[in-house]
Amino acid sequence: MSRKPFIAGNWKMHNTVEESVNLIEGLKAAKNKNNADIMVAPSFTSLSAVVRASAGTGFKVAAQDCYYEDKGAFTSQVSPVQVKGTGATHVILGHSERRSLFGDTNEVLNKKVAAALNHGLVIVFCVGETLEQREGGKTEEVIKDQLVNGLKGFSAEQLKDLVIAYEPVWAIGTGKTATPEQAQDTHKAIRAMLAEQLGKEFADGVRILYGGSVKADNVDAIMAKEDVDGVLVGGQSLIAEKFNRIIDYN
Ligand code: 13P
Repeated sequence: MSRKPFIAGNWKMHNTVEESVNLIEGLKAAKNKNNADIMVAPSFTSLSAVVRASAGTGFKVAAQDCYYEDKGAFTSQVSPVQVKGTGATHVILGHSERRSLFGDTNEVLNKKVAAALNHGLVIVFCVGETLEQREGGKTEEVIKDQLVNGLKGFSAEQLKDLVIAYEPVWAIGTGKTATPEQAQDTHKAIRAMLAEQLGKEFADGVRILYGGSVKADNVDAIMAKEDVDGVLVGGQSLIAEKFNRIIDYN
């Protein structure tokens, strides 16, 4: 089954509006020789400006999170309606930093998934285990729980545009990348879980991205793996030349 590659940059809490627009200008130099979907996820503050700066590029613009209510007295939260209003089309949900630092449980994420789907945002849903969980042999159990409870109540049809990102927590921002074999093994396991949960057709078509210390000199080997359909890049997505090299992986 051929799945369109998906290369995404999560800018996290970096870049002013001006820096964000400059970064988009730098990314226009990528050839996109693999005909990948390219997504960038700036801070909320830069979403509108990045949407405007990306006009004509085909870049998909994502929020890094959204709340599950449409509006109301929820100081500091940003709703899917507001995200859509910027022109962004995608949203990252369940990033491990959201899970570990800001209390995004599977139950909260399930509500966020509902709200994002309700407003037609394409979701990049993140899963992944901590080092302790991996060493304790719990990787698959943890990820299964994240998938089953985070995506509970939705059909394959409702989730047809969903993208999964596997980001082992121990590989995020640590310089420790999962080996291509570790990524492949876990992606294959995730595809099998999704086949059980949402059917084989869904599982065969869904794109699963790897994230965690992806860089120019490891992307080729990771992307060569059968069940790796793309990458979700943090640090190296902030430097145009580096991210362009990742976009144009071999
Ligand atoms: P790094 O690429 O900086 O390890 O971050 C990965 C990540 O968390 C992307 O969402």
